[in-house]
Amino acid sequence: MKLDDIRREYLYSGLSRKDLADDPIVQFKNWLQMAIDADLNADPTAMSLATVNAQGVPSQRIVLLKNLDASGFVFYTNLGSRKAQNIAENANVSLHFAWLPMERQICVTGVAEKLSIAEATRYFLSRPHESQVAAWASQQSQAIGSRKLLEQAFEQMKNRFKQGEVPLPSFWGGYRVRPVTIEFWQGRANRLHDRFMYKMVGENWEVERLQP
Ligand SMILES: Cc1cc2nc3c(=O)[nH]c(=O)nc-3n(C[C@H](O)[C@H](O)[C@H](O)COP(=O)(O)O)c2cc1C
Repeated sequence: MKLDDIRREYLYSGLSRKDLADDPIVQFKNWLQMAIDADLNADPTAMSLATVNAQGVPSQRIVLLKNLDASGFVFYTNLGSRKAQNIAENANVSLHFAWLPMERQICVTGVAEKLSIAEATRYFLSRPHESQVAAWASQQSQAIGSRKLLEQAFEQMKNRFKQGEVPLPSFWGGYRVRPVTIEFWQGRANRLHDRFMYKMVGENWEVERLQP
């Protein structure tokens, strides 16, 4: 395999200051809608979430964006997971969206805060039954001896919640990432890419062009 020969020119589009919305959340929603409409891949709402633990060791994983408004980017997860432990130790996180067929990425830095139980419950109850049961069955990020044990735990929970609504587990919920910076990146020819960084300054968003 020869990796150093793999490259391409980025010619899909450009991005200029006058194309940008004043509010990066509006701009984000424009790009997300384009990614959804373009049917690029199965998971247009997938984002890499980077966290850092108390020892300063970073880790990343993909989660799905489930809500977005002026107050931030929402995802759901297990509250005992490695990511949740990291956030408890250090609430500074980063989100990364990549829509590579459109030669676009968005990088967000921000502060994660736990959602209220009411908000988490609303979302949990909207999930398919099997996903609700699976949330009960998995102690996410913990070691387990075999797949069989996991499937047994799933069957046990299926039995336990045969009837009626599956309640929100106390160890499951979500986070809202309040953005501090949001960068929009559009690939351009000759590696002269367009980058615009929004920063929250006081109550307002300011935007500046960055070198590629
Ligand atoms: C496309 C995709 C979507 C995912 N969505 C979520 C999600 O919304 N929430 C979640 O907890 N894990 C999700 N995962 C699994 C995570 O990437 C990760 O394996 C899990 O959350 C455990 O991470 P941690 O041990 O670092 O906490 C997703 C994985 C992929 C590939």
